[in-house]
Amino acid sequence: MLIGPVDAAFLAPELQTHLGEAEGLFTLLTIPVQEELLDKAPLLRVVSNMAVGVDNVDLAACTRRGIPVGNTPGVLTEGTADLTMALVLSAARGLAQASQDAKEGRWKTWSPAGWLGADLFGATLGIVGMGKIGRAVAYRAKAFGLNLVYHDPQPRPEVESSLGAVYLPFEELLRQSDFVSLHIPLTPATRGLIGEQALRLMKPTAILVNTSRGPVVDTSALLRALTEGWIAGAALDVTDPEPLPPDHPLYHLPNCLIVPHIGSATWNTRQRMAELACENLLAGLEGRRLPHCANPEVYVGRINR
Ligand code: DGY
Repeated sequence: MLIGPVDAAFLAPELQTHLGEAEGLFTLLTIPVQEELLDKAPLLRVVSNMAVGVDNVDLAACTRRGIPVGNTPGVLTEGTADLTMALVLSAARGLAQASQDAKEGRWKTWSPAGWLGADLFGATLGIVGMGKIGRAVAYRAKAFGLNLVYHDPQPRPEVESSLGAVYLPFEELLRQSDFVSLHIPLTPATRGLIGEQALRLMKPTAILVNTSRGPVVDTSALLRALTEGWIAGAALDVTDPEPLPPDHPLYHLPNCLIVPHIGSATWNTRQRMAELACENLLAGLEGRRLPHCANPEVYVGRINR
């Protein structure tokens, strides 16, 4: 077994040189698993990605080669939904700026018009992507008194009946929402989904929250939107590029809160993600069906134990 650095943003050179012997690969979402890598690993029988998102992996290429790809769905739902609400609240109330002002001596007195923010109660939250995480956000948001609208490839009757969430076409959701929260995978169809056109449809008072994948939002369009006041604010757990370089202008905007991709960063969640990823890896190495497989079509016509 060869182990690369824990914080690997790419496959370490010492691992690259051993790809020819690799039968299993345990990857992080920062490591691209594309044709070029797969060509160097002819013995590979399983890729186990320690993430629910698998946009770093060329699933079609893996399937063509008969390689199942594992991911870690379910276990990070609640943690990511918690962070989403933390971002909604922080952006609505300008917590980062208020904390900074207090620390740096700008808190002179209680001021009737100081550090004013937006209410959640009675506001409308637009959830783009009503999968597991979108639903977990909806449950939390309901308790804060937010009205819920959502967009998804398919209507979700269970969230409509249990939470009163209303299905809207994408553009209409952008027009009506005070907060727009993204919970969609990165695919060719969702890349750049929130670009100039979408941002210009949002209310000038609206706040955009992204805990999904950075490239779903067009960074330069967002920068203009925040600078020119098309929208009021943004809170980002993910960025494009990622990490965002320290001198990026988004960091200097008081209406943009950026945290370093920490949606799943709780002790319990990361433990469960690591366990699931190990279970997937071992299953693949032992020729068993992966407990969580992102390309189940790889098994069509194949007999697995
Ligand atoms: C995932 O698992 O895809 C998350 O982005 C990790 O936090």
